[in-house]
Amino acid sequence: MDNIVSKHAGGLAKDTALDRRDDGCFHGGAFFEAVGEGFDDLHRRHGVINADVLDAWFPPAPSVIETLTDHLPWLARTSPPTHSAGLLEAIGRVRGVPQECILPGAGSSDLIFLALREWLTPDSRVLMLDPSYGEYSHICEKVIGCHVDRIRLERPLGYRVDLDLLTERSKENYQLVVLINPNNPSGQHIERDDLERVLTQLPAGTRCWLDEAYVEYAGTDQSLEEFAAASSNVFVCKSLSKVYALSGMRAAYLVGNNEVVAQLRKLMPPWAVSLPAQVAAVRALEETEYYAARHLETHRLREQLIEGIEALCPEGKVISGVGNWVLWYPPSSAAVTASEIIRCCRSRGLFLRGFADAEREPGVDAVRISVKDAETQEHIVEVLAWALGQEQFLS
Ligand SMILES: Cc1ncc(COP(=O)(O)O)c(C=O)c1O
Repeated sequence: MDNIVSKHAGGLAKDTALDRRDDGCFHGGAFFEAVGEGFDDLHRRHGVINADVLDAWFPPAPSVIETLTDHLPWLARTSPPTHSAGLLEAIGRVRGVPQECILPGAGSSDLIFLALREWLTPDSRVLMLDPSYGEYSHICEKVIGCHVDRIRLERPLGYRVDLDLLTERSKENYQLVVLINPNNPSGQHIERDDLERVLTQLPAGTRCWLDEAYVEYAGTDQSLEEFAAASSNVFVCKSLSKVYALSGMRAAYLVGNNEVVAQLRKLMPPWAVSLPAQVAAVRALEETEYYAARHLETHRLREQLIEGIEALCPEGKVISGVGNWVLWYPPSSAAVTASEIIRCCRSRGLFLRGFADAEREPGVDAVRISVKDAETQEHIVEVLAWALGQEQFLS
């Protein structure tokens, strides 16, 4: 584990980035304020726990590291294959989908911005879940300017998705239905067969964007990539960031109808995926056993984190799903609120993410904490315990 010290993390900032929403979408990643975005001393990362992003707690497979290390000077100075042909071949072979149905990109954000801006206009109507990954409302409402309807997921129901409601609402002639499965931030997963049943009832003119960034945590058999490749209107967006421990590399792909994918392919710039990212992704895709073992371990670690938080604060509530994070609702009787806890923790180098039950309601209802290795999680619980008693620092 990284040696956790707080001296690099700065003081208890009055004006944290907690509620910052500029003209871009709000994301985790505030930990870079402590590391330094100018990268002048990357050792500062040892003083930071970045539990505000859902990056993997485990390293990339050893073969990925070995290849990157052995060839780094060449990888850095060499132009990559123009359209990621080797990566395309590896995805097709490993995930069982025809290559003409696959479009690689520099992270799913790249693909989201490319496809949605091509498919939607200000007159379009889009349906999505709430809460959900904020980038989708950002691009639909703030970038494209289209109309978004939301299906509200309720905390007392553990944010479970009502499939009958989803099926019915999806038939209301939307241009796009956006689903994230398992959903971030609620963590709930819809079983593959159940989701397939919903998607087969979509009107022909409605496309579904199915974001499977975390699907491996739900099981190796849960992806709808093959289903999407055979359908005319379902598109799976698969990030390689989170479950392959490649967030810094920027690699992802879209799977769907070959004709629609061919249209999008024309809009993808050459060399979109960097050479280190292409090489790392190809190696990672081969390492099925290594990653499956890490995904299984994640469930054990998540339980350990939940036990630690519940022991610390039995009156609070933890909601978790299948992903590599938990949502913690500190009790209303606590001396500090969720956002105050987040501010306090930052002063000790622990970065957490605020979570709001509903996107349009201001305020922070809970703290989202990502799963880390066992030792780091013990430290997280210690810092949370300290933060719960920090009322006097916050006035
Ligand atoms: C649901 C979801 N989709 C996509 C992304 C972004 O992934 P990428 O790194 O591939 O751009 C995230 C990142 O947090 C996410 O949670």
